[in-house]
Amino acid sequence: MCGIVGYVGKNKAIYSLIKGLKTLEYRGYDSAGVALIQNGEIISIKDKGRIDHLENILEYDKFTGNIGIAHTRWATHGIPSKENAHPHIDQNHHFAVVHNGILENYLELKDFLCKEGFSFSSQTDTEVVPVLMEYYYQKDKDVIKAFQHTLKDLRGSYGILIITPLLPDTILVAKNNSPLVIGKGCDGIYVASDVPAILQYTNYFYFLEDGQKAIIHDDVITFYDSKFHEISKQSKKIDWEMDAIDKNGYEDYMLKEIHEQPEAFKNTLNGIISAHEPIHFLEFSLDKKYLEQLKQIYIVACGTAMHAGLVGKYAIERLCRIPVIVEVASEFRYQDPILDEQTLCIFISQSGETADTIAALKLARERKAKTIAISNVFESSITREAKYTIYTHAGPEIAVASTKAYIAQVGIMVSLALYMKEVLEGVNDEIIALKRDIIEIPRLMEEVFKNEDMFKELAHRMSKETDLFYIGRGNDYHTAMEGSLKLKEISYIHSEAYPAGELKHGPIALIDKGTYVFGILTDAQVYEKTFSNLEEVKSRGANIILVTNQDIKGDNVITIPNIDPILSPILAIIPLQFIAYYIAKEKGLDVDKPRNLAKSVTVE
Ligand code: G6P
Repeated sequence: MCGIVGYVGKNKAIYSLIKGLKTLEYRGYDSAGVALIQNGEIISIKDKGRIDHLENILEYDKFTGNIGIAHTRWATHGIPSKENAHPHIDQNHHFAVVHNGILENYLELKDFLCKEGFSFSSQTDTEVVPVLMEYYYQKDKDVIKAFQHTLKDLRGSYGILIITPLLPDTILVAKNNSPLVIGKGCDGIYVASDVPAILQYTNYFYFLEDGQKAIIHDDVITFYDSKFHEISKQSKKIDWEMDAIDKNGYEDYMLKEIHEQPEAFKNTLNGIISAHEPIHFLEFSLDKKYLEQLKQIYIVACGTAMHAGLVGKYAIERLCRIPVIVEVASEFRYQDPILDEQTLCIFISQSGETADTIAALKLARERKAKTIAISNVFESSITREAKYTIYTHAGPEIAVASTKAYIAQVGIMVSLALYMKEVLEGVNDEIIALKRDIIEIPRLMEEVFKNEDMFKELAHRMSKETDLFYIGRGNDYHTAMEGSLKLKEISYIHSEAYPAGELKHGPIALIDKGTYVFGILTDAQVYEKTFSNLEEVKSRGANIILVTNQDIKGDNVITIPNIDPILSPILAIIPLQFIAYYIAKEKGLDVDKPRNLAKSVTVE
């Protein structure tokens, strides 16, 4: 959701601002804009639509200033329109503001400011910020005081950048429950809502914590805590290479990221799993006594991360016999969950910034549960909230539809289950066999990739469909759910994932002659049962596509390597990712930036 970039330095700001926005496109947006300070005033341009459109209407020659802010907006308050696009500027043209997040008390503030004689030109919550700045500025004629007073008045989540001709070399920065990073490059200081936007300028970043502020003046950054006391902050090094955020010759990020899965999996489990050493997590351990008294485990996440949680549940319950509840974060919070010191809560989030997941994590902490965050983004919000963090090292994931981060999350969840079993029982043959399988996985994924042409051909046959079904049992059902989500997200085809045995309790009524049904069959124990369910739909005219590691011959059979059912989702999802991708391509859709979706959902 909303992307933010800011720059102050020696260069013309416009180039790094637009470049930064383009790198943040994956976050999802519907309008874009920039504002610069030059010749003692604010110059700004914004509109509904893509960044390409903004570039077409902005005249680069006119935007010559060395300080500026930019924004991509994902509409929350007010329709996507030029008026609602950021930056927002007060009526006296003193303050230009970009904001990510939601200001919960904006109506109250707007009402107050209107009574004070100020006017508004948008329907957004954000516009109260420049107007409040102006209101306070008029009182004291002091920009920094106005900044302090304004922030005190705001309730809600925000990453905010403010520029003003009254302090022409300064960017005011504030963060609360919305991501913001600051990087110091050779030729200036950069601010962004995500590391990739400014990775080309530096590998060292300052991560603001909630409530913290920064005032960037020329090449000096001064940090403040929530009470506006000056603090010192250390920068942290992020080792991502620039080519990690390039397409590297692939047509789309999603295709590149599917192909990066063996590497993502290997990097994530490097140092955690080895054939002969006990499993170990850096900076984190659970002892036997703790695990023995554990009453239950909650796994809480959204979207694809929640599906990784389901695979984790399967592994933990099968291996450790500890009950696990997997809950969607937005539901968890309102269910008054029963949590205490004997509950372990695991939160999975690629971005680490999903608002519902963060809120759920805060609730778990309040209720004294032990919390573990699993995130792909260093220093992201959930990693700071949780007691322990395990990082997936999938590298930056740019495509909205998650692929390599999912594989890495599943890798961590299965390793965590194995780790807990090892702590509880000591090493045994089952653990050794599973470790060996895990080590083999990157090679086995490459085997699945060899059938990419077949996946493309199947996608071609299915691209005109309006409804697709995915069925399976146990872990195969979890794969069905993730496969169906991938398809919906990027191809806009309606699809349903169902537990195979449940199909005849309703959805089978939707099966017609020619309907495509994916059957996922990787668990020998339930293989025959699922096969019977597939026969039921076949006899009603359905076209069956099998994804299986069993020895089945036939035209529409995708064979994947045979592996323990605990791990099989890692291989079984790959054909479904490819098929979703190629269907979306056949339909001519923007695979990496599907309509209405955002990579990082930072509002509840
Ligand atoms: C959005 C994305 C999904 C993602 C989900 C959770 O809905 O479009 O791809 O799975 O958020 O994101 P997270 O960053 O918390 O894993």
